[in-house]
Amino acid sequence: MVRKALVAVSGLALWTWIVLHVAGNLTLFSGPAVADGYAAALRRAPAWLWAARVGLAAAMMVHVAAVVSLARTGRAARPRHAAHAPDDTSALAARGMRLGGALLLAFVVYHLLHLTVGALHPHFEPGHVYANVVAGLRSPRIAAVYIGAAALLGLHLLHGLWAAARSLGLRPATAARRRRPAVVGVSLAVAAGFAAVPVAVVTGWLR
Ligand code: HEM
Repeated sequence: MVRKALVAVSGLALWTWIVLHVAGNLTLFSGPAVADGYAAALRRAPAWLWAARVGLAAAMMVHVAAVVSLARTGRAARPRHAAHAPDDTSALAARGMRLGGALLLAFVVYHLLHLTVGALHPHFEPGHVYANVVAGLRSPRIAAVYIGAAALLGLHLLHGLWAAARSLGLRPATAARRRRPAVVGVSLAVAAGFAAVPVAVVTGWLR
């Protein structure tokens, strides 16, 4: 139970950061002055920036460690012959969440090297966030990776927000159906918000 609550609370912290990141990305639609100005403002408050980064890294570690630990307990509790055959939809969903989560983690590593550190970006210029994003996502192949990550994150949030509400006991059965559209709407909005930037770059809207 404690581990489920840890997954839920760390997931909600990650979700809050995700919403802030989508909002930050949308400044790109106001042009280089606004987007680069926003990034520069974050860097002028290094204590807050590093506190947020450390909090984010800690939330990610707690989230992954608790999920891995729960998966181990689940495997140990299952009868031997069923170890590789999930027998119901929730086991299948949990397996999908773990696979999706691992892919998202791989994306985050690639993404940091691409747009934060610049090691995987051929024309990276520190501080020029707008130019880095436009040059970095112009290739349809790379844009597709970002759009895929946005879709994967939307699916992860869809199931995760739902499961978090249940783990924290916030989902009385009667209210469940009424809340479903809000969870779907929020997840879709995050996926669309993230996908908007690569789509706008490959279609030439952002250049
Ligand atoms: C799909 C469109 C996305 C775009 C256009 C985008 C853009 C960016 C940019 C430009 C930065 C560097 C900001 C700076 O240097 O000031 C950044 C940082 C970052 N992004 Fe994204 N991002 C996207 C999706 C995601 C997703 C889906 C995740 C996580 C699941 C993510 C996680 C991060 C992280 C962890 C950082 C580092 C923040 C820091 O410590 O400064 N991004 N992103």
